[in-house]
Amino acid sequence: MPSVTPSAAASGTSRALAHSNIALAKYWGKRDVTLNLPDVPSLSMTLSALTTVTRVEFDPSATRDELVLNGKLQEPAACAKVVALLDRVRAGAGLQLRARVESQNDFPTASGLASSASGFAALAVAASAAAGWGRNPAELSDLARSASVSAARSIFGGFAAIEAGCSSARPLEVPAAASELMMVVAVTDPGPKPVGSTSAMQLTQGSSPYYASFRDSAPLAYQEVRAALLGGDLERLGDAMEHSTLLMHACMLAARPALLYWNAATVAALQCVRELRRDGTFVYFTIDAGPHVKALTTRALSERVSAALQAVPGVQRVITSGIGDGARVVSEP
Ligand code: PMV
Repeated sequence: MPSVTPSAAASGTSRALAHSNIALAKYWGKRDVTLNLPDVPSLSMTLSALTTVTRVEFDPSATRDELVLNGKLQEPAACAKVVALLDRVRAGAGLQLRARVESQNDFPTASGLASSASGFAALAVAASAAAGWGRNPAELSDLARSASVSAARSIFGGFAAIEAGCSSARPLEVPAAASELMMVVAVTDPGPKPVGSTSAMQLTQGSSPYYASFRDSAPLAYQEVRAALLGGDLERLGDAMEHSTLLMHACMLAARPALLYWNAATVAALQCVRELRRDGTFVYFTIDAGPHVKALTTRALSERVSAALQAVPGVQRVITSGIGDGARVVSEP
């Protein structure tokens, strides 16, 4: 194929913004590793306060794809997923140019705050726009999903779900009560997590005797989360979210070697959420593949929850987030 420049409609450069999302019903495990298809359905809330901005430039003088993440040039070995996504864009757009990618997160990277969700959603939007490859939201979700299943959900604002074995997420229409939901994130460790999610999932699927039970139970937890959200039953939503979280961690704990993402502050924050709830505050916890605790509450209660979590020993900072919009192209600063 001859080397061509981006189409006339595209400048060869684009910048996109995407928010992270937190799963209220968890995905863990791949149905197909090569195609990166999820083994279980999941449902998430997009978070306005956790943001990635990514700039992609298809550069005629570049000899390889380059990734600068949070100001640091990454080793080629760390760029495989980025290059694979760019390859899909190049194939679709009929383009051969290599790209320079600059990505900035405004929150800790690779630590269980879903930086891969916002990162690959922003990359999918920026790269296809820079290449002049017009894509609708479902196609962008598919593109993002090829790198990270959670990224498929970050293409959409509000709440989004992806079914087991499916290649793209869909946005959900929720009742007004759900728009009051907030997520209070208690950061318990700023460092990167020891095991990335892809290898951790493979380890769980290959060695945890509870993986089969998780795969059977996760769709039921997902259905309950979904029905509660769509029905505006926020207590049931929180309860089902905690169940989905603990199902996932129980099966991770039984992997060999065990995947224990929690630290002392994780447990203390979790107990804090349970105590607040015992005292009548609407608040429920979730934890991903990292040590942080995310507390689901409402706008009216978020300050109380934030203050309580901030006082937990070992909690380093608290980020309070509302519901975010979908991924989008943004202008250069
Ligand atoms: O798609 P990944 O590689 O970002 O994995 C996401 C895994 C969890 O965050 C633990 C759960 C989820 O559904 O987001």
